Amino acid sequence: MIGIIGAMELEIAGLRARLEGPETAVISGVRFDSGTIHGVPVVLAVCGVGKVFAALCAQTMILRFPVRAVINTGVAGTLSPSLGIGDVALASDVVQHDMDTSPLGDPVGMISGLDLVHLPADRGLTARLAARAASLGLHCQVGTIATGDQFLAQAERKRWIHETFGAIAGEMEGGSIGQVCYVNHIPFAVLRTISDGADGSAPESFPAFAAAAAAAAVEIVDGLLEELSHETVD
Ligand code: ADE
Repeated sequence: MIGIIGAMELEIAGLRARLEGPETAVISGVRFDSGTIHGVPVVLAVCGVGKVFAALCAQTMILRFPVRAVINTGVAGTLSPSLGIGDVALASDVVQHDMDTSPLGDPVGMISGLDLVHLPADRGLTARLAARAASLGLHCQVGTIATGDQFLAQAERKRWIHETFGAIAGEMEGGSIGQVCYVNHIPFAVLRTISDGADGSAPESFPAFAAAAAAAAVEIVDGLLEELSHETVD
């Protein structure tokens, strides 16, 4: 079974509409819809915005459903000069840009306990999603995706995250879902289509482009599931 998490309804609704044999369970306030898409077992969830909701959802999904991989899909602000609105960012790894124990001598972003800044996404899953994006004619970049409990809307913060972590896109859940998957030894991928510039233009761009960008991400995930349907999966 593949777990698919989006923060917002618009990031998951397009997939839920394609679910066959749907069953719904609400756990800790999160709705999990399981069933099949293209015959592939999936569980879908809208986790809500931010790291705490995302972690709660990912951990619950892993405990309650037999997921062999988790995909976080949705939209992001671009931190990369080569990613514009509608383009695709895929995580080679995730960081949490608001994790900071540097006054204690740690590198900025280091997750105490794991002692890592960058948590690696699954290479195979990421490569397959990149191939699906390319087959849809979408421009795609693979790199670090930065997560924090902030809607990024300032050029200065955007530059700092890009320069500090080498990040290509910023959002609010992927790093948290990645951390939960990492400690549970579950492969994960973060797929984000660009909805805005993560700078002063973001408050206007996000509402204008989020739905279309999210729809493109849905098509990429759908393409992956279609591909998986030709293989033996559980
Ligand atoms: N998701 C989409 N755009 C974003 C932004 N600018 N900051 C954080 N998360 C986002």
